[in-house]
Amino acid sequence: MAIHLLLLFCFNIHIQYKLLFPKQLVSCLGWTTADELYSCSEDHHILRWNLLTNETNLVVKLQEDLFPIDLHWLPKTVGGKKQAQAEIFVLTSTDGKFHLVSRVGRIEKTVDAHKGAVLAGRWNYDGTALITAGEDGQIKIWSKSGMLRSTLAQQGSPVYSVAWGPDSDRILYTSGRQLIIKPLQPSSKVLQWKAHDGIIVKVDWNPVNDLILSAGEDCKYKVWDSYGRLLYTSSSHDYPVTSISWSPDGEVFAVGSFNTLRLCDKTGWSYALEKPNTGSVFSLAWSADGTQLAGACGNGHVIFAHVVEQRWEWRSFEITLTKRRTMQVRNVVNDAVDILEFRDRVIKASLAHGHLVVTTSLQCYVYSAKNWNTPLIFDLKEGTVSLIVQAEKHFLLVDGAGLYVFSYEGRLISTPRFPGMRTDILNTQSVSLSNDSIAIRDKSDEKVIFLFDALTGKALGDGKPLTHKMEVVEIALDQCGPSSERKIAVIDKNRDLYLTSLRRLNKEHNVCKIGTMVHTMAWNDSANILCGIQDTQFTVWHYPSAVFTDKDLLPKTIYMKDASEFSRAPHILNYVGTKVTVRRGDGSLVYSSVSPYSTLLHEYSASSRWEDALRLCRFAKDLSLWACLAGMAMSNRELTTAEVAYAAIGEVDKVQYINSIKELPSKESSLAHILMFSGHVQEAEATLLQAGLIYQAIQIHINLYNWDRALELAVKHKTHVDTVLAYRQKFLLDFGKKETNKRFLQYDEGVEVDWEKIQAKVEMELAKEREKAATASVKNSVAFRH
Ligand SMILES: *[C@@H]1O[C@H](CO)[C@@H](O)[C@H](O)[C@H]1NC(C)=O
Ligand SMILES: *[C@@H]1O[C@H](CO)[C@@H](O)[C@H](O)[C@H]1NC(C)=O
Ligand SMILES: *[C@@H]1O[C@H](CO)[C@@H](O)[C@H](O)[C@H]1NC(C)=O
Repeated sequence: MAIHLLLLFCFNIHIQYKLLFPKQLVSCLGWTTADELYSCSEDHHILRWNLLTNETNLVVKLQEDLFPIDLHWLPKTVGGKKQAQAEIFVLTSTDGKFHLVSRVGRIEKTVDAHKGAVLAGRWNYDGTALITAGEDGQIKIWSKSGMLRSTLAQQGSPVYSVAWGPDSDRILYTSGRQLIIKPLQPSSKVLQWKAHDGIIVKVDWNPVNDLILSAGEDCKYKVWDSYGRLLYTSSSHDYPVTSISWSPDGEVFAVGSFNTLRLCDKTGWSYALEKPNTGSVFSLAWSADGTQLAGACGNGHVIFAHVVEQRWEWRSFEITLTKRRTMQVRNVVNDAVDILEFRDRVIKASLAHGHLVVTTSLQCYVYSAKNWNTPLIFDLKEGTVSLIVQAEKHFLLVDGAGLYVFSYEGRLISTPRFPGMRTDILNTQSVSLSNDSIAIRDKSDEKVIFLFDALTGKALGDGKPLTHKMEVVEIALDQCGPSSERKIAVIDKNRDLYLTSLRRLNKEHNVCKIGTMVHTMAWNDSANILCGIQDTQFTVWHYPSAVFTDKDLLPKTIYMKDASEFSRAPHILNYVGTKVTVRRGDGSLVYSSVSPYSTLLHEYSASSRWEDALRLCRFAKDLSLWACLAGMAMSNRELTTAEVAYAAIGEVDKVQYINSIKELPSKESSLAHILMFSGHVQEAEATLLQAGLIYQAIQIHINLYNWDRALELAVKHKTHVDTVLAYRQKFLLDFGKKETNKRFLQYDEGVEVDWEKIQAKVEMELAKEREKAATASVKNSVAFRH
């Protein structure tokens, strides 16, 4: 496996400085639309910045004794009802008050809230409640109209910053050097931990990735999960970190400090660093579409930054967003360059399966990698697409209102939904798409995964979602093979990896664990091969479905390689061709290549080319490849190939078992024993009973020492009761035990055991079965000839 190291920044920022008449510290700001921002400064001015026209207007000059500290616009969707534009914001001030202010700058209401300054005011996600934090150490909850609901917390030191949890049911706030997460439910458990070595001044909590940011006077910023576990800590900088803010999709965050603006990946490492001459950046706010960032600066500037130089790669294509409306496509094979221009600002893009999908504020562009000149363009109902996911056949877009599957020809195919679906928080870990299916991890109950038919948008099967025993953090559908075999890989909160079939949820082989301590995973795009990072091992599951056929086989089909060089928090970006791209914790990309043979083997197995498969394994001389073949052959009931493959990996018992299956008298019997081989006893029994092979059904339970079931069947069908008793007695004798089972004691009295008679009866059963099978096959061939 070759490892290439390449360090590259996938993002950059372009900064515009804006200074108007305010010369004093700008304390807070907030976006109303993707192109309009309000700012407040200590000289009492509220300004409106329009980025389309470059106009800046004074909205209002507040009274002289009102010094603003924090500003937050009420969400556009309040209690499920959607407004056309943001109408009202909360403004907190040094005099212990907060004010509800309209777009035109009219103060609609002023509320006495705290003793000393009101340091923060934040609306919850559905706009039904406001939280304020004060210098007096109190945290209070208010109704939408500013009525006090409750005092949530009270402490001896000022609360500098608060943030709502993703479901608006908990809040995060600062307490000196500690962070505290407190549920609104009074009796629920409070989480508290020491987070910094200096006062914590800002926190943020992203609803999409559920991660927490903190910034402190110890000149550090940190990333936490919502259990208070530290994921990243920055080194100590020269100045206190004064602001920190998540982009809406949770992919990046911005950090502000003295003359410093930094853009970081969600894992903490820094994409870009700018040193603008601004003084301290006191507040940062992202536009709702995540394309622009504004900063409130100590020297009276408002700075605007937008993210450029974002990159996408697929096969030989490298695409870069060079300007806000321009992309460059480079084919590394021949160095050909195409420039793509868009009418509006690019908001999201995705490159996979031979297609580039780009959304702007108003339209969706679909390019084929075969032709960069003539995109298909269609209008979007709602501007802000927050997520694009591609499969080979189609792609899906997610916006604030829903989830839509489109064909690459631009036709709307389906709009799957479920009650209570929140689209604003979906990301690539919680949504997965294949040619035929869609999986969505629920938010209100993270154990639940909703499954849909991609073409109709209807729930799969009986409509019941898949419920895992624990919260699920990541899901991924495999991409190849028939829809009836579609599988989903699931990583849960414990970092265990499970595999299950979508369309056979109710059968015995439900959910199988195939890995532990899995940080990240990705399916190959042309074969159902999974790769991931397990603890410190780069792992390839060459044939994960082996777990459904023969659990013991699975470990033999897995390739592992030490991946400690991937360092902490590696993330698999994609798996295309034989190349896996992993981003390390420090931001560098590592490419790892995977043996191409197992892909070929998947192809041969899918087209039943068993001779070719055997030849490939003999050529490659790789035991894991033989193990894959054993599993593939067995699951396709290709016994001859399975026998050779099991022999190659030295599984003598299995070879013998397969041999015995081949000698069984009928098709039904061998099918049942293949099912038995994979541990599906109930299905095996059902197969035999359905074919009227009562004796065989009884015999499999005898073989498994399932004595009660064996006897039950014998009694029910009034046959071979003596056979069961005979085997039971032999078993007890062999193990030197006495009969204690009441049912057996009862039958032992009335039935006489005669081994000779039993042998003869069994012979007869087998002969009968053989005869029946032969006539059936003659009948079939006769029918076939006609
Ligand atoms: C606004 O300002 C930017 C940067 O200074 C400039 O590129 C853009 O053309 C201006 N737009 C308008 C409408 O004047
Ligand atoms: C997925 O769809 C594409 C395009 O229709 C097709 O070429 C491909 O074979 C499909 N893949 C599978 C596994 O069905
Ligand atoms: C993954 O898919 C590609 C096709 O995109 C194929 O060429 C490649 O061999 C596969 N990778 C592996 C490791 O099998």
